[in-house]
Amino acid sequence: MNLGVIGTGRIGSMLATALAVAAPNAAITVYNRSWDKAESLADTFPKTIQATRTLEDVVTRADHIFLCLRPNDLRNVMRAIGGMLRKDQWVISTCSSISLYELETFCDSLVCKLIPSVTQRANAGVALVMFSERWREHQRNAFVDTLSCIGRIHTIAEEDVRIYSDLTSCAPAFFSHLALSFQKAAHQKGVDMATAQMLIAHMMEGLGTLVASDIYDFTTVIERVAVPGGVTEAGLKELTKMDESLFDRVLDATARRQREILDGGQH
Ligand SMILES: NC(=O)c1ccc[n+]([C@@H]2O[C@H](COP(=O)([O-])OP(=O)(O)OC[C@H]3O[C@@H](n4cnc5c(N)ncnc54)[C@H](OP(=O)(O)O)[C@@H]3O)[C@@H](O)[C@H]2O)c1
Repeated sequence: MNLGVIGTGRIGSMLATALAVAAPNAAITVYNRSWDKAESLADTFPKTIQATRTLEDVVTRADHIFLCLRPNDLRNVMRAIGGMLRKDQWVISTCSSISLYELETFCDSLVCKLIPSVTQRANAGVALVMFSERWREHQRNAFVDTLSCIGRIHTIAEEDVRIYSDLTSCAPAFFSHLALSFQKAAHQKGVDMATAQMLIAHMMEGLGTLVASDIYDFTTVIERVAVPGGVTEAGLKELTKMDESLFDRVLDATARRQREILDGGQH
């Protein structure tokens, strides 16, 4: 598999790393505006990742191309490479604010948008994908099969991207915030920070597996653990004092900020 990554900032380098770890036999060509970032990525995975100094190189070598660029840079790069892209190439943009419709105006390729999560760094978690109308079902399936090595690929409609991104891409930060409070509280009671972190992380992994494999849902987990009159129930009573509208407000805040960013032309 020959893959290309254009833009090796936070998301591009994370995706290239995730792919290099998950598919060590792949050939990944990376290109970045400033050479150093692309070069250091290639130095880290010399067998899998190769840095190039030209966009043409990426387009020629790669079967499929990830574009991990900010909106205006993405438009500039698409103007530069649009005519070189082949019809059967997947053009995968991580930029949620440029529509599939606009991306299709630059090329005849199969364009899609991918919203990765930091969890892909561990080849886990969920990456969201939005396909344009050009994709036929077998092509969509091939995409999902190919990318599944870096995490679970979940298809969504373009208009739903905000709420789904909150659940998959923002949530690692939200739940890390809660986990960090838990870790600090345990530390106050004498558990060293590293041990508390390790125990909480493995607990979260186990909980995730339990629910993701449909053994229990979240309600059943609570019922199984919180025996009436027991210690977990006593702890839960404290948690239920937490404002029930908390996550409503979290989701409203992300949606509001998204609108501000788009209206402010910061995209
Ligand atoms: N960060 C996130 O958590 C996240 C999550 C999901 C989606 N996204 C989206 O993914 C996109 C990238 O985000 P990011 O956080 O990775 O941004 P970033 O860290 O700023 O990286 C962007 C990279 O693009 C490079 N670049 C700019 N113009 C270029 C050009 N003409 N040719 C080649 N490379 C060029 C930059 O190179 P230089 O080194 O020269 O600056 C930089 O390394 C954005 O649209 C963002 O909205 C981000």
